[in-house]
Parts: sequence; C-alpha cells; structure tokens
Amino acid sequence: MTTLTPVLTKNWDQADSFTLEGYEREGGYKALRTAFGMEPDAIVQAVKDSGLRGRGGAGFPTGMKWGFLPPTSPNPRYLVVNADESEPGTCKDIPLMMANPHVLVEGVIISSYAIRSSQAFIYVRGEVLHVIRRLQAAVAEAYEKGYIGKDILGSGYDLDVVVHTGAGAYICGEETALLDSLEGFRGQPRLKPPFPAVAGLYGGPTVINNVESIASVPSIVENGADWFASMGTEKSQGFGIFSLSGHVTRPGQYEAPLGITLRELLDMAGGVREGHQLKFWTPGGSSTPIFTDQHLDVPLDFESVGAAGSMLGTRALQIFDETTCVVRAVLRWSEFYAHESCGKCTPCREGTYWYKQMLKRLEAGDGKEEDLETLLDLSDNILGRSFCALGDGATSPVVSSIKLFRDEYLKHFEQGGCPFDPAKSTLWG
Ligand code: NAI
Ligand code: SF4
Repeated sequence: MTTLTPVLTKNWDQADSFTLEGYEREGGYKALRTAFGMEPDAIVQAVKDSGLRGRGGAGFPTGMKWGFLPPTSPNPRYLVVNADESEPGTCKDIPLMMANPHVLVEGVIISSYAIRSSQAFIYVRGEVLHVIRRLQAAVAEAYEKGYIGKDILGSGYDLDVVVHTGAGAYICGEETALLDSLEGFRGQPRLKPPFPAVAGLYGGPTVINNVESIASVPSIVENGADWFASMGTEKSQGFGIFSLSGHVTRPGQYEAPLGITLRELLDMAGGVREGHQLKFWTPGGSSTPIFTDQHLDVPLDFESVGAAGSMLGTRALQIFDETTCVVRAVLRWSEFYAHESCGKCTPCREGTYWYKQMLKRLEAGDGKEEDLETLLDLSDNILGRSFCALGDGATSPVVSSIKLFRDEYLKHFEQGGCPFDPAKSTLWG
C-alpha cells in the first residue's frame, strides 16, 4: 500500500504555515544556506539527478531544461514561475501558494542562483487576489529578512523577485503566451523553436517552470537527489500533489509518490460519495482523455497513464459518479475551450466553436448517430493541426467520451433528451 509523502504539504495544518516564522520553524530557508555552499552548476546537476519532471503537466525534465540555457548571452537571463494554474479541476498550486508561499519563494531564490539569473517573476492567475496578496506578503518578508535583494546572506549574489498578475486568460498559462503577457502584449502563443530557454522574456534566455516544480527544489537541495529519486517510479521520480475533486467523500490535495493509483487515493479520500459508484474520471484535468472504473489500478505516472491511453497532465483527478451525464460534462468542458481559445489559429478557434454548437444539440437529444462521426472528423482536424496544446487538449474529452460512452450519446437521440436527472448530480449549478 502506497502512503502519502507530505513534503510540500507537511505544514499545511499549522495556523501560521504561510508566515516566514512558521516556515522557518519547520526548517524553511535551511536549503537556501546549503545552496549557497554549492556551485550553481552542482545544483543544476542535483536537479537533473533527482529526476524531477515538470509538474505543470508536460513532465519535461526540469534539470535538462535548465541545462539548455546558453552559457553566455548578450541579454539578461530570467526565471519565470508559471503560477497561472487554470486547467479545469487543477487546484494544487493555488492551495500550495496559500498555505506555504515561502517554499515557492525559497525555490525561486535557489533556482535563480542555480541558473545565474538576477531577476525572477512569479506570474499569477489574475482572478486569485487572495493568492497574489499572500505571495506579495511572503516576498516582502523575504526581502526584509535579506533572503532576496543585494548580497543575499553575504553570498555576493543579488536577486529581485516580482509578483506579476495576469488578467484571467487560460491561454496565458501556455508559456510563450505568458511571456507575451508579461511583456505587456496580448497573450498569444509564440512559434517554438526558439524555446524560451534560448530566447524567452525580452529575448533573453528564460527558464519557465511550474509552481510545484520550483517548490520541490529546496527539498532536493536539502535531502539530496537520491532521496527524491528513491520515490515514485523508474522514469517518473519523486512525489506530486494529486487534486481529488467532484463526487468524492473527502476532496482535497493528496501528496504522494508518482505511481500511486486512483484506487489507493480513493481509499485515503473516503471513496466515491456514499451510495454511488465511479463512472468516469480525468487523470490530469479536462485536457486529458477520460478514464473509467477499468482504470482504477493504472499507476499514476507519466509512462503508465500514457500507455493506458491518457496523460498524467496536472494530476487533477475529477471524479464523476453514475448520476453524471458524460455528454453534459464534455459539453461543459467544450464551452470552456471555446471561450478560452485565443483565436490565433483556425482549427482551434473554429473547431471549439463547432464542438460547443454540436454538443449542445446532442445533449438536448436533437441529433443522430452520424453526428458522432462528424465530431470525430472535426477532432481529426483540430488534433495535431493547432498551434498550441489548447486545441489538442480540447479534443481529449470529446474523442475519449465517444470511444467509451457511445451508447450514452445514442441514448440522448433515442429518448429525444438527456436521460439523466441533473438534480441527482451535485455537479451542475
Ligand atoms: P511541451 O511539451 O511543449 O513543453 C514542456 C516544456 O519543455 C516547455 O517548458 C518547453 O519550453 C520545454 N521544451 C520542450 N522541448 C524543448 C526543447 N527541445 N528545448 C528546450 N525546451 C524544451 O508542453 P507545453 O505546451 O508547455 O505544456 C502542455 C501541458 O501543459 C499539457 O500537457 C497540460 O497538462 C499542461 N497544462 C497545464 C495547465 C495548468 O493549469 N497547470 C493548463 C493547461 C495545460
Ligand atoms: Fe490559440 Fe487555440 Fe491556436 Fe492555441 S490552439 S494558438 S489557443 S487558437
């Protein structure tokens, strides 16, 4: 039986966990002192050796990304933290920044030192004012204590950290749209390559990492790469925060080694709500193909989830019981993508609009079986033809739900309406 591994979440039950005092009482900022006793390249190597992979969803090896920065450049180099968490069902970075903002701040300082950057930005989703205020307070405390600013702890290293707020667009979580937004432009994805590591913010070499990735760095520096690598699976090492939401008895964040299964997580979370059974779930937010109760024992690591036909993504496990209409859930997600599509490329802009229109009709029972083929055809024209991952992600719930629940779609046509009673599901407002 896999057990929880509270590292980033270990002090969340302390009333003052978000203060500098509360964080230091639990050993906070010790790793920073350890880091200043190391050469920057040794920290990069430790992160490489730990096996840490990007916790924002894509799982790209963090140390390798840092290693892509050119050794010299005419432009300054930057660290940018992607705190624009917006994937439906994903709620790990926001609680982390609320409960333990200093572990992120400490991670920012160590990571900036490791990549030899003197300027870091934390780009926070615009709607979460409470998080922005908490982060600003934590950064101010760290400045006051001398952890940020000039000659940090007498090391000769200088760093400035800016907390920047977005304006609430999902697309600004895409790293290059985020950079455009940070530079003051409308956030739309840039062509890659060049990757940000080579030409990012203001054209300078830029490392962009997710909140949880950067917040994991102090524990790696303090406990060693082997400690981190000893958790998880062979290729998906370490721990991560799994967010359970929906029809589950105790929803919340569960920090556990990668490779844990939904069955094990549900055991810890009190199971599916009483008197009901699991129908379908997302392993990593709505941009990943859905799973059913057949997938309860799939190890939640990058490789196993991929082999089972989905993606680990953001580890946003949204749980739906038998009272939920899958067509309605997919319609809700498609409305989200249509709203958030930035409009830059035709397959995504037009395709998500037509998803919304068609699914609305189908959910109302006004459709025919051929419409499902049209939806799949439309998906073929979005997937792999869109400029960024948003378009691809929008196809995931549509294609996987038709594959797994074709009969349920058909029932809508047969009955001339939705066979489910929305009053019985707690999910529809
Ligand atoms: P990606 O696989 O294109 O890139 C991942 C990272 O690796 C990027 O930082 C990229 O710059 C870097 N990279 C990849 N190849 C590189 C190379 N050859 N040289 C240098 N750097 C390289 O994935 P992307 O588009 O950045 O992210 C997609 C993921 O984002 C999805 O899998 C999804 O799970 C996740 N996502 C997360 C959200 C959230 O709220 N946390 C919201 C929406 C999507
Ligand atoms: Fe914009 Fe969608 Fe194209 Fe991405 S895929 S660039 S969000 S229109």
